[in-house]
Amino acid sequence: MNSVTLINNTNGEKYEFDILDSTKGSGVIDVRNLYAATGLFTYDPGFTSTASCTSEITFIDGEKGELRYRGYDIEELATKKEYLEVCFLLLNKRLPNKAELLDFSEEISKRSFVHEGIKDLFNAFPDYAHPMSMMSASVSAMSAFYFEHLDMSECKDFQVMARRIIAKMPTLAAFSYRRTLGIPFVYPDIERSFTENFLYMLRAYPGQSLKIPTIEVTALDTIFTLHADHEQNASTSIVRGVASTGAHPYVALSAGINALWGRAHGGANESVMLQLEMIGSVDNVENFIARAKDPNDEFRLMGFGHRVYKNFDPRARILKNLLHELKDKININSELLEVAMKIEEIALSDEYFVKRKLYPNIDFYSGLILTAMKIPRSMFTIIFVIGRTVGWITQWMEFQESEDKKIARPRQRYMGETDKQV
Ligand code: CMC
Repeated sequence: MNSVTLINNTNGEKYEFDILDSTKGSGVIDVRNLYAATGLFTYDPGFTSTASCTSEITFIDGEKGELRYRGYDIEELATKKEYLEVCFLLLNKRLPNKAELLDFSEEISKRSFVHEGIKDLFNAFPDYAHPMSMMSASVSAMSAFYFEHLDMSECKDFQVMARRIIAKMPTLAAFSYRRTLGIPFVYPDIERSFTENFLYMLRAYPGQSLKIPTIEVTALDTIFTLHADHEQNASTSIVRGVASTGAHPYVALSAGINALWGRAHGGANESVMLQLEMIGSVDNVENFIARAKDPNDEFRLMGFGHRVYKNFDPRARILKNLLHELKDKININSELLEVAMKIEEIALSDEYFVKRKLYPNIDFYSGLILTAMKIPRSMFTIIFVIGRTVGWITQWMEFQESEDKKIARPRQRYMGETDKQV
């Protein structure tokens, strides 16, 4: 096994740390006994150099712009597989055959109804509530309706728990939205596919047999697949952190939803559209680029930059292609598209962005597609939530089955007052 040597220049002591291999990508220095051996901690705010777990789910090579779920390239999955096949893959570590997919889809459809009591929870929210508030509260409330998932002794129980919440997410999402409008909830239609049913529950009048255009179902299905997992991002790390305390899995998911809401994470898709509208015209782009570059201005170009991708975000590339494919078919706002393309063009050649390796990320393009599909802006991050639920819950399961099941408890560098007396 390879190792690294750490020399403490204060006392000349040498310490050896193993380098653990990975099947693909960087190895890791095993510092688990660092404190015991040296009396020192590592200091890494934002965990830019720290691996918090061992995982077999998702692989990212940020330098190459590579993303794989269970070994499969994201582009292949997004173009050749449905979202529910990807869910099956993440949960079961392999793609389903035809019969398995049929069973899985049927089970998800049948589990999509929520307890009638949940409707009262939505009705308690004010009209102006953001759907994300309702989403996080209702997913947390699910822990009361399925309290038995707190103590699951067998892996097969994990699967039921996971399928249950994946199935109910679109229903909770559609209820959240309909509550903001004060219009009656529409129950799931089990004859429709997962993604079509979500659009139906958002748009239909109760009892209406509404036709949802296939092109929109396919586009949204792709968007769900692109969001399905993304290794140890902020919200997933939070889900694993809550899992490590032994809390109910749906409470851990609710914490993930809250973490995702922030503008630096999944909330960026809502902010991108706001920003494009604020910029308004290609003539104003230069001005906003200058603001983004100004160290004294807090303005950031939303939908640009990523902690891991330093070449391009493969999800963004797939969405950009999809955007151009759909341009004339679903009435993409051409003025905003022009503004977006101008920002992209300037940013990709501007020294500030090039030097910092800031490229468009997934959120830069998704809003334009969702807007053309008449999905309200307040639902953009909810779309991210629906897609990511399978990733969060798969990561939750992996944590439960792992050997390193330790409570998430980082240390700190203390720089406060010392030894004061009253
Ligand atoms: N516009 C202008 N400057 C930026 C931007 C941006 N969008 N992003 C980063 N920078 C600059 C930043 O000011 C810093 O400059 P300097 O070195 O001069 O101080 C440098 O680039 C490094 O930025 P950082 O904040 O240290 O990088 P990070 O890896 O901690 O943050 C990020 C990554 C995604 C939070 C950040 O790029 C950002 O805030 N982007 C805008 C929000 C966004 O689009 N988020 C969606 C991410 S993708 C969806 C998801 O998976 O969540």
